[in-house]
Amino acid sequence: MEIFLDSADSKEITKWLGEGIVDGLTTNPSIMFKDGVYDLEDGARKLCRLLGERPVSVEVTSNEHAEMLRQARGFARWAPNIVVKIPVVNEQGVSCLSVVNALSREGIRVNVTAILSFNQAMLATKAGATYVSIFAGRLADEGSDPAVVIRRTRDWLDAWHYTAKIIVGSIRAVMDIQCAALAGAHIITIPPAFIAKMVDHKYTRETVKQFNQDAAKAVAQIATARAAVAGTA
Ligand code: E4P
Repeated sequence: MEIFLDSADSKEITKWLGEGIVDGLTTNPSIMFKDGVYDLEDGARKLCRLLGERPVSVEVTSNEHAEMLRQARGFARWAPNIVVKIPVVNEQGVSCLSVVNALSREGIRVNVTAILSFNQAMLATKAGATYVSIFAGRLADEGSDPAVVIRRTRDWLDAWHYTAKIIVGSIRAVMDIQCAALAGAHIITIPPAFIAKMVDHKYTRETVKQFNQDAAKAVAQIATARAAVAGTA
């Protein structure tokens, strides 16, 4: 399973890249705005350089198919590791699968985003998605169980040998990460604050403290023993 960061914060991204646990990056217009990236092209190019060869998802910002295609083709020229995010439907509920299909036929990798049902994931895959982004937190907000949608999608992809990968996003709690991993996510995209929570545990800290204290006591014992030997010599 892969871990992506759901962020546009270059400081946090650099930090977690250094820990060797990041396989890619996802953004959306809200994340870019929250993390102070107002110039999309400049910001996306910088993030792509930071990520090396790892995939970086950047989302289109229009409801119109023609404009989505224009933006997506432009994004794809910014860096070789760009993945274009296309919502499964637009604000009016109009399918965007024709856009997904056209881009994938051109060899542009597409992350079909804002997926909230198994049916959407299935259709996005059929249209040529490289990634299908299932929004766990938003699904749970609506009273649905994200694990069921993730599991069904994974089983269906495997049964029919599709190569599309499930990205689980919209993480709201550390427990969501565990649930997504066990439900069959290929990738979980995680806000950096949750990675910091995942790695830490107060009892681990106490354990390490105890070991360090005992190691210091052992060193003190040796010093005392050596001093005693030196005193009798
Ligand atoms: C990731 O690709 C999504 O854009 C992101 O996780 C959405 O999260 P949200 O539901 O917190 O906006």
